[in-house]
Amino acid sequence: MRDPKIIVALDYPDAAGALDLVVQLEPALCRLKVGMELFTAAGPRLVEQLMQRGFEIFLDLKFHDIPNTVAQACKAAAALGVWMVNVHALGGRRMMEVAREGLSAYPRAPRLIAVTVLTSMSQEDLTGLGMKDSPADLVLRLAKLAQDSGMDGVVCSAQEAALLRRQCGDKFCLVTPGIRLANGVADDQSRVMTPRIAMEQGADYLVIGRPVTRAADPLQALNEMIRQAGDRV
Ligand code: C5P
Repeated sequence: MRDPKIIVALDYPDAAGALDLVVQLEPALCRLKVGMELFTAAGPRLVEQLMQRGFEIFLDLKFHDIPNTVAQACKAAAALGVWMVNVHALGGRRMMEVAREGLSAYPRAPRLIAVTVLTSMSQEDLTGLGMKDSPADLVLRLAKLAQDSGMDGVVCSAQEAALLRRQCGDKFCLVTPGIRLANGVADDQSRVMTPRIAMEQGADYLVIGRPVTRAADPLQALNEMIRQAGDRV
């Protein structure tokens, strides 16, 4: 079965906006990411509608709570039938292990990945939380912890992908946002990479929002991303 490398981020305030875009895309070309804004507004019903259209869904809700609550939330995501779901690695080993165990009863369980350090966090932010590691060291520490706790991979910036690929091996799934076409605008992303370089650095999947969702022709923009990523259909 085809395994599209691009995950289009549906950062919309409501279902109507998301569906207006989705009718222009094709499930053979991409997967879709539903994050907390859209999920809070439109809920599981929209996720079901997107899956009925043939799309696989990354439910990006970044669960972070006590182990039992996170495990139950992951099970709810599995019951919904999503392809990928995520938790915060900062929830710790036991939270991640219990989340993994919670999915063991599902034959087609979602891929379970972790967020390490939000890219919005500076060294100063970490120091304010009492953390002494640099952001880069903390990313590596949390990625290793996520791997040891049974996670299938992590969300990381393309800048971190090569190091994590080396440290965590070939099978660890790296999902990378902050992607822009070589000649594209950066929006509010401070460190961006092109699809080709991100894939060369070891990314498995590229999360792409505005370069596709705000394009005059989203399908054409997606096809250009696919071409640059070397993701042949
Ligand atoms: O529009 P853009 O391509 O910048 O969207 C990127 C998507 O990836 C958004 O949904 C954003 O929340 C998400 N993301 C990110 N940086 C991270 C983690 C997630 O931009 N470090």
